[in-house]
Amino acid sequence: MLSVLALSVLGAITLVFGLIDSLKSVLELVSSHLMPYFLPSEVEPLTKKFGPWAVVTGSTDGIGKQYAAELARRGCNLVLISRNLDKLRAVASEIEKQHSVKTKIVVADFSKGAEVYAHIEEELKDIPLGILVNNVGINYDYPMTVCEVPTSKAWDLINVNIGAVTLMTKLVLPRMVAKGRGAVVNVSSGSELQPLPLMTIYAATKAYVRSLTLALREEYAPKGIYVQHLAPLFVSTKINAFSQRLLDGNLLVPDAGTYARHAVASLGRVNNTTGYWVHGIQYTLVKIAPEWLRTKVGHHLNRQFREEYDQNKVKAE
Ligand SMILES: NC(=O)c1ccc[n+]([C@@H]2O[C@H](COP(=O)([O-])OP(=O)(O)OC[C@H]3O[C@@H](n4cnc5c(N)ncnc54)[C@H](OP(=O)(O)O)[C@@H]3O)[C@@H](O)[C@H]2O)c1
Repeated sequence: MLSVLALSVLGAITLVFGLIDSLKSVLELVSSHLMPYFLPSEVEPLTKKFGPWAVVTGSTDGIGKQYAAELARRGCNLVLISRNLDKLRAVASEIEKQHSVKTKIVVADFSKGAEVYAHIEEELKDIPLGILVNNVGINYDYPMTVCEVPTSKAWDLINVNIGAVTLMTKLVLPRMVAKGRGAVVNVSSGSELQPLPLMTIYAATKAYVRSLTLALREEYAPKGIYVQHLAPLFVSTKINAFSQRLLDGNLLVPDAGTYARHAVASLGRVNNTTGYWVHGIQYTLVKIAPEWLRTKVGHHLNRQFREEYDQNKVKAE
């Protein structure tokens, strides 16, 4: 009798937690994607809320480039960090022509690991940074098993996807804390939702970013720092060059400009978001399935991408 009662109580508690979790997902979806449209955007501009300068890593292409342009549109001066000087100069000049903001460029190849940060620290030391966007990230060239991933690529994934977000945050945060304000946006990926076979290391690095971000927020929110976990699903950028279908884009796979416009609208307003309302709906629906099922579906999807990549390679030869 006692054991039946204990089991019933346990079942009821599990059900309540499950329902709270599902309700939270739906509330997060609604708040992250609708709230920004209802809150007046100009009440407190980003520059006033966080500070006059933003730094964006990986800002010469894709999401980072468009995110930087969107910040400039909102009046933020920009430090652009990326690996290619010519591309940096071109992006900086494009942004300065279109918006009345200042830019500074810093060349850094994050795949080189520890050695790049002293130079970045020196370049940033006199800049009153208010926003750090940890965007830089790389993926495999195409879906493959762990043993197929070249060792150098595995290190690049660790240094770029894990190293940069960690060390850039450590580098920029103390001065934000001293001022009692600042924002850190960590670009993760929908692939942090579950293990992702054939992109195993990539997805694992993004699970790291999620964990880092959520714990960082607990540590630094009381010190006035806003920390956002930004987890896009597919966006049409060259990181997905293995699939023409992804490069072509559609409603589910927006171009980087569309994505960045939505993502920046959520900055300072929502803690955890995919950054784009269609992705928000996808994310919420995907989360309903158990992790083992999501892992199998992810594996299946990546097998299809691999087939597409192999077929296109054969055609090209
Ligand atoms: N696109 C998606 O579907 C998607 C989905 C989920 C999450 N994300 C995440 O979004 C972020 C941006 O991805 P994206 O799609 O915009 O990729 P992308 O188009 O390939 O752009 C990546 C940017 O990072 C720079 N970069 C790459 N390696 C670097 C290095 N070693 N050192 C310095 N800079 C480097 C690139 O420089 P170059 O211009 O020289 O190439 C480029 O500016 C990543 O963190 C990615 O994981 C993307």
